Amino acid sequence: MNFLVIHGPNLNLLGTREPDVYGRTTLTDIDREIEAKARELGAQVRIVQRSSEGAIIDEIHRAAGWACGIVINPAAYTHYSIAIRDALVAVAIPAVEVHLTNIHSREPFRRKSVISDVVKGVIAGLGSKGYVFALEFLAGKCI
Ligand code: DQA
Repeated sequence: MNFLVIHGPNLNLLGTREPDVYGRTTLTDIDREIEAKARELGAQVRIVQRSSEGAIIDEIHRAAGWACGIVINPAAYTHYSIAIRDALVAVAIPAVEVHLTNIHSREPFRRKSVISDVVKGVIAGLGSKGYVFALEFLAGKCI
């Protein structure tokens, strides 16, 4: 059982980035939680943080034939990247979209996701737990 977890742009700055919005948890802390859940599930997990759209798309392509699930926080690309949406559709790997914050309770431009309708589900506002819940869900879908 193999999973790919993708963190989009600016998430590498968690811990110091707008702490009033994102808290003090760092990306390293989140990755530790993801790794612990993967261990518990007996799964392999590849975790990447990529700042550019093309690099995220390359990671999605690379997952084809390897991953049985993708957890993706596309960060700001959520709101406008048709290219990331198309890549997820192209590889046809079950995916879950995760947001640390509740994008529906923030600025109006964050309410729209061009990814949500091509993934299995969306988790927003539950902080790092969102990644853990997404892995648990996808594990139930992997054969
Ligand atoms: C985010 C929400 C996005 O709107 C924002 O651009 C991010 C992080 C989140 O995890 O809450 O960078 O995806």
